Amino acid sequence: MKFGQGQKVIITGASTGIGRAIALELAKAGAQLGLIARREELLSAIVNEIQTLGGKAFYRVADISERKETLIGISELINCMGGIDILIANAGVGAPTTIQPFNVETQEKMIKVNLLGVIYCIEAVLQTMLASGKGQIVAISSLAGFKGLPGESGYTASKAGLNTFMEGMRIQLRPKNIFVSTICPGFIKTPMTEVNDEKDMPWLMDAETAASIIIKAIQRKAKVLRFPWQTSLLMRIVGFLPDWLIERVMKKYNENPPMPKTPL
Ligand SMILES: NC(=O)c1ccc[n+]([C@@H]2O[C@H](COP(=O)([O-])OP(=O)(O)OC[C@H]3O[C@@H](n4cnc5c(N)ncnc54)[C@H](OP(=O)(O)O)[C@@H]3O)[C@@H](O)[C@H]2O)c1
Repeated sequence: MKFGQGQKVIITGASTGIGRAIALELAKAGAQLGLIARREELLSAIVNEIQTLGGKAFYRVADISERKETLIGISELINCMGGIDILIANAGVGAPTTIQPFNVETQEKMIKVNLLGVIYCIEAVLQTMLASGKGQIVAISSLAGFKGLPGESGYTASKAGLNTFMEGMRIQLRPKNIFVSTICPGFIKTPMTEVNDEKDMPWLMDAETAASIIIKAIQRKAKVLRFPWQTSLLMRIVGFLPDWLIERVMKKYNENPPMPKTPL
């Protein structure tokens, strides 16, 4: 039996990029999907695509930085699907941290979506998983969560917070038969990274390849996955570099940081 077949999977941030690619691959494997994002027209198009492939999918529109909306959206999906086996908390946002002006609203948004949003999603599935005595919770974090980087402080902090939150949950939920995985990708070609210069994104990977790697990690219940290995190694090396060198290497990026097309 193919991994995913017959499983009930909720994916946040399924309207584009990595979330969309995971949804389509799992649908092809026979999973039943519950999709969450803010843009209804994109979600509805993916659900149609999945139904055309013979699959089963539902969607709900929710802003995961809003606790009530998230709880309602996910509980409605659990009802539609008759339960949940896997939560993939993938929705996330990214934008540079500037100092003149110091863009606090942007940083608040990253913390709200990338960290609090995942916590709200976990809240929405936890009682059901505890009651059924099984489940899997997966968060899409980032290799950026392992090192504070100039011009990326807000994003790296949101992902570092997510990494340690998931680590604690993993150990706490272990005796409850609920497995927790933290997925830390390097650069993936998605709408989030399309504003960046490809020269600044070594070992850039397409979303479909990333989705396959992530699904394999979910299947083997990986605790933490860092990929691709080249970027993972690079980030470990960066961890040993002196501040002056990192500042110099990222100076050009910080002179003209690539802003998202629409503000967060
Ligand atoms: N691309 C990379 O290089 C890379 C690397 C490491 C980690 N990641 C992480 O991978 C995840 C997916 O990113 P991506 O690259 O696939 O970017 P993306 O294409 O921009 O996808 C982000 C998804 O999150 C959804 N989203 C954003 N804010 C939301 C909110 N407040 N409520 C609900 N949904 C929201 C978006 O849908 P709507 O706009 O329709 O709501 C979209 O579906 C993120 O957590 C990101 O941090 C990406």
